[in-house]
Amino acid sequence: MAIRNIRQENDEILRKRSKEVEVVDDKIRELLEDMVETMHKYNGVGLAAVQVGILKRVIVIDLYDGKGPKKFINPVIKKKKGEHEVEEGCLSFPNQYAKLIRPEEVVVEALDENGKKIKVTAKDLYAQALCHEIEHLDGILFVDHMIPGTLEYVENNE
Ligand code: NI
Repeated sequence: MAIRNIRQENDEILRKRSKEVEVVDDKIRELLEDMVETMHKYNGVGLAAVQVGILKRVIVIDLYDGKGPKKFINPVIKKKKGEHEVEEGCLSFPNQYAKLIRPEEVVVEALDENGKKIKVTAKDLYAQALCHEIEHLDGILFVDHMIPGTLEYVENNE
């Protein structure tokens, strides 16, 4: 396992579309492990492969709820339900937070790390994280659709 470098806000790779994974192999599983390690190092709730410079449709999420990290390959949002205002940040935008509107619930289909089809119904923070990370795969960033005037810079005391 290895910590990978996180691409920062002005890196144009963040604007590119990531490609579908065709074969779920050891290389993908190693990428997933590295992404989990990198997300944990920076206390992130989620990370998309493009953020470590890999244009593949791969994301990881950890809600720190004791259930461990979750890994998704080729995730697709199938359903969205409800809307609410949330606060959001991104590991590619350190110390920056904004408010935006996200669905309250989503249904996502994907492959797991063994290439098996999975379907997840997610609410609240889990739904928010899935939407945020899946948008990364299409080059969309949270600041693109934040509620105007809500971007804040928060000092990090660590
Ligand atoms: Ni992000």
